[in-house]
Amino acid sequence: MSIRITGTGSALPGRYVTNEEIAGLVDTSDEWIRERTGIGGRYVSVGETVAELAARACVSALENAEKEAGEVELLLVATCSPEDTTPCIACQVQDKIGAGNAVAFDLNAACAGFLFALHTAWAYVEAGIYRNALIVGSEVLSKIVDWEDRGTCILFGDGAGAVYVEKCESGGVLGFVQHSDGSRGGVLACGCRQIVNPYFSGKAQNPYIRMDGREIFTFAVRQVPMAVEEALDRAGLTVPEVELFVLHQANRRIIEGIARRLSVSLEKFPMNLQKVGNTSSAAIPLLLDELNREGRLREGMKLVLSGFGAGLTYGACVLEW
Ligand code: ACO
Repeated sequence: MSIRITGTGSALPGRYVTNEEIAGLVDTSDEWIRERTGIGGRYVSVGETVAELAARACVSALENAEKEAGEVELLLVATCSPEDTTPCIACQVQDKIGAGNAVAFDLNAACAGFLFALHTAWAYVEAGIYRNALIVGSEVLSKIVDWEDRGTCILFGDGAGAVYVEKCESGGVLGFVQHSDGSRGGVLACGCRQIVNPYFSGKAQNPYIRMDGREIFTFAVRQVPMAVEEALDRAGLTVPEVELFVLHQANRRIIEGIARRLSVSLEKFPMNLQKVGNTSSAAIPLLLDELNREGRLREGMKLVLSGFGAGLTYGACVLEW
């Protein structure tokens, strides 16, 4: 028994911001950003919230799967940029789309969040608890980015991507691995609520994303190929049998480095980061939706999904479409 993705959807905010526009805010250039990251532009929220984008992506995934919101049994939102501590984003989405029969909660594993949520849904289905799930990665990172820091504000974008998954008897998810390394959490961090009670006199945290870009780069290029091979091993497949590698869209040079380590042609690594930037937990489902709507995902095709990011967290999933 496993789960199969039977519908995909996505949502992007209304404002598109080019590299040239960012060069008007900080000392950078379109040429530098494209050369170092492959990113050409990104969508930025002008008021759209994580819950609103998630709800739009969910409605589009349900339409694609030809399902009603009332049929959803599990609703998982992966996000690391919620506006609200409570109610959780998943409960807000449940209300917005009318998924009244679902159990809904959020999960934060940063850029690996969607993948970890997919694995969570798989485990629930495998345990016989639920038969389907709506999984959405949604981020409005523009509110946790320091728009005066040229090292980070060029990288991120806002958006949401969703998938509907159903129990299946064959195919679907074939192998999975997840890893976390909290000892390296400082490499990519973002403060949230501060301790500001009357008894505390310590220093306030930086509320914005701070990152050691080189460390992240090295981590991704070293660990992701190992995770991919581990997941393939569990699925009983080998690297050459995979038709598409749908990776977290952090930056082009990371993906090139991973492709080189796996000795796979870059043509098997679809990318949309040039248009949307790094959208963290939304990146994989956004790209899946694009590929699905372009008709590039054929039934029976073997895919590898891989997410990696803050935590540090990373993992890979092998699936038959
Ligand atoms: N424009 C122009 N110059 C810049 C910019 C910019 N936007 N940002 C940094 N620089 C400068 C630096 O100040 C430095 O100048 P100096 O030599 O005078 O000191 C120079 O460029 C080189 O800086 P580095 O940080 O060493 O640049 P590097 O080649 O490592 O590229 C980058 C930086 C693109 C962030 C790279 O490290 C990278 O891709 N890292 C991966 C990080 C990532 O993708 N994070 C996303 C979140 S995590 C995730 O999703 C997995």
